[in-house]
Formats: sequence, structure tokens, C-alpha cells
Amino acid sequence: MAVIGIMDSGSGGLSVYREIRRSLPEARFIYYADNANCPYGEKSPEFITGRCRAISRFCIEGGADAMVIACNTATAASISTLRQEFSVPFVGMEPAVKPAALGTRSGVIGVLATAGTLKASKYLNTRDAYSDDVTVVEHIGKGFVELVENGDLCSPHARETVSASLTPLLEAGADTIVLGCTHYPFLLPIMQDIAGEDIQFIDPAPAVARQVCKILDLSGTGYSDSYPGTDLLTSGPEDSVRRIFNMLDCPGDRYSISSKAL
Ligand code: DGL
Repeated sequence: MAVIGIMDSGSGGLSVYREIRRSLPEARFIYYADNANCPYGEKSPEFITGRCRAISRFCIEGGADAMVIACNTATAASISTLRQEFSVPFVGMEPAVKPAALGTRSGVIGVLATAGTLKASKYLNTRDAYSDDVTVVEHIGKGFVELVENGDLCSPHARETVSASLTPLLEAGADTIVLGCTHYPFLLPIMQDIAGEDIQFIDPAPAVARQVCKILDLSGTGYSDSYPGTDLLTSGPEDSVRRIFNMLDCPGDRYSISSKAL
């Protein structure tokens, strides 16, 4: 089965890992969380590209047949450079503006993402392609990444923090909200509770998992002898990754967690 490298600034990319693993339960995964440098949201594209390069090299040298940049901010900053520099296929994240634009009934869609994603040309081009048909309102999910990294997913403080960024989108009339950061799906229960059942949230992770399956199939990789399992590595302390990994509802039978500076 294939070896798949996945990276994020921290534990957020585990929302993408969860979907890929459901589709490819027999694959081997190398997941790298760059906790020592988390959050990426306000860091420069150059810095983020340097981190993505080092982490991708590590995963590919460890046998990865494909790399998933499970981070919208890092994808916007670096995926074209990475595709030029490495020969394995790369799959990235992008805010799911298209399905939101097709699904909205109110004609207003909301996008929650980091500052880095919202100002990247990759996102701005996608947004502009749909802005004749729908109104797009945006907000940084301020403090969301920190909540997830601290495992604070349902306290009164978490609710207040989430509400401060979500409410302006709801007040603008958005009935469909794009989760443009891989950390945010872990806050979905609180978001849905604040917004009510009529509001639809879109997480691109299932579409990314389908894309990974397609790419592995097309590139003909996928059937080496490596044992299935997950190596979780972090540039910081192990507790955040361990906490979120243990919350995932996919079987985590064969895995290891360790700190590794890169
Ligand atoms: N999970 C990331 C994203 O999808 C990065 C969040 C951050 O580190 O600021 O954008």
C-alpha cells in the first residue's frame, strides 16, 4: 500500500488525515505537525515555504509516494514551489468556494480562514471567479487554531472566541460557511450550535481524500510492502498531536508519536 506524507502547522491536518485514512485504511502515513512554528497564519510565505520544503523532504526520504499539504495557509504560500522542486505528487488545500457558491440559497457565502490564506492570490482568484454570482464575506478565525492546539473545543471561552468570528458572517446573511483552515473542523460542533441547523458548513477534507486516491491510482504507486500504520512526528511537544489524534473516530491501532526537530 502507499506511503502518504501529510503536514500541517500543527494538529489541524489531522482533520484531513482522518478522511484519507477512512479511504485508505491500509496505507502507511507519516504525519508531521510543525508545532514549534504554529500558527502559520501570520508568518511570511518565504518562512512557510522553507518549512514545507524541509518537512516534505523528510517525508519523501522516509518513503512517501505522495505529499498532502494539509494546511490552507501553507498550500497558498508554497505548493507551486514544492511541485517544481520534488517529483512526487502534491495535494493541497483550498477554501471550498465553488461548492459553497453552488449550494447557497441566500446568495451569501462566508469564508473562515487565516490571514495568510485570505490575502493569498490563490484564494483571491477563486473568490473573484464567483463574486459575480454570490456575495462572499470573510473573517479570520481569530484564536481558533490556539483553541484546537490546546484541546479547548467546547468551553465557554471557546464558544465566545468562535462566536466573535462567526457571528459577523451570519449577520451578513451567509447560509453556507467554508472552513478554510484545517484546524476549524474540530470546532464544528460549537459552530453548528451557534449558527443553528439551517447553516451549512463545508469542510474540503473529503474532496481532498478523493483526490489523493485518484492521484495514487494514476501514478501507479500504492502497492509496496510497507506495513500500515501512522508515524506522528512533531517539531514541538507531543501533547497537542496526541490529544487530537486520540479524539479521531478512525482506528489508530498501529501508531507512534515522537518529537523530531527539522
Ligand atoms: N491549519 C492551517 C490552515 O489550514 C494553519 C493554521 C495556522 O497555523 O495558522 O490554514
